[in-house]
Amino acid sequence: MNSSASQSRAKQSTAAPSANTEVLDRALVMELVRVTEAGAVAAAALIGRGDETAADEAAVKDMREAFDQLPIDGTVVIGEGERDHAPMLYIGEKLGAAQDGGPAIDIAVDPLEGTTITAKAASGALAVLAVAPQGQLLNAPDIYMEKIAVGPGYPDGVVSLDRTEEENIAAVAEAKGVEPYELMVCVLDRPRHAELIGKLRRIGCGIQLIPDGDIAGVIATTDPDTSIDLYMGSGGAPEGVLAAAALRCVGGQFEGRLIFRNEDERRRAHECGISDFDRIYGLEDLAGGDCIFAATGVTDGPLLHGVKRLRRPGMGPVVTTDSVVMRAATGTVRWISGEHRVD
Ligand code: FBP
Repeated sequence: MNSSASQSRAKQSTAAPSANTEVLDRALVMELVRVTEAGAVAAAALIGRGDETAADEAAVKDMREAFDQLPIDGTVVIGEGERDHAPMLYIGEKLGAAQDGGPAIDIAVDPLEGTTITAKAASGALAVLAVAPQGQLLNAPDIYMEKIAVGPGYPDGVVSLDRTEEENIAAVAEAKGVEPYELMVCVLDRPRHAELIGKLRRIGCGIQLIPDGDIAGVIATTDPDTSIDLYMGSGGAPEGVLAAAALRCVGGQFEGRLIFRNEDERRRAHECGISDFDRIYGLEDLAGGDCIFAATGVTDGPLLHGVKRLRRPGMGPVVTTDSVVMRAATGTVRWISGEHRVD
């Protein structure tokens, strides 16, 4: 991909700045889009090929190469797993071209959020990352996390994992000034959510069941165009950190609590430095400081368009990308269309 040919279409908004301690170099914002663009374009070559692993590996390889061009001293804190299981983007891997004195930055990546979606050419696969000053992203093990999220504008603490689903729905409905049955809740379509779905059905809420991709499900609560008021249910803990980074930038509330199914998961959490296994994590606990979130669409979805391959008369092949990048320190959200010449 020749990213020098990429264009930037300004569709930009600025939310209230969030409190931060250390500020990242703003130039990094655009640089990070190159990284998710690279991952998305690589994975897109395998859309609909029925091979989840190959699509994921392609995104991992190209994102890693793109990260290594950046002037940072980066460390992967959320990636493809432990070093002995993942050849690239493993936890602890050092990335970036400024290992000697560059800004120390923690990196969370999900090179292909929606491996099954991509393999089946379905809707909403993304290449995703978040970065923050060192120590500001929760080093979450790859286990499940119970999650609840609402978009911006609600009073602080309107939802909490300490309350029942019914209480949370009632509180959001009251704050919004509607009846509980008028709310729309996004939930991952999984058998483990049967009880949650049953409760929501009894209240009469609308439920948008998504097959995969709960980072986009959480972000959807921040966009009035989606009609989604809340995200509820369990999904990956790494995806929880990435979604929290996005909400730090655009506003909204999120709580997450790790779910441990066995001793091995407790051990892995412990190795990540987690000792309080019942802790409820808020936004700042998951993604603190001046974090940046970036995503590029792989397949078409409600958040972003997927990668398209075009042929223009008299030109070689061109791929187009659609990305979003946001930064907590300023609350700026940029939507970026890229057009890249491919050799
Ligand atoms: P992958 O891209 O790794 O397949 O993850 C997709 C996803 O739907 C996440 O968005 C979500 O957090 C997680 O899987 C849920 O896990 P499970 O499929 O085990 O319910």
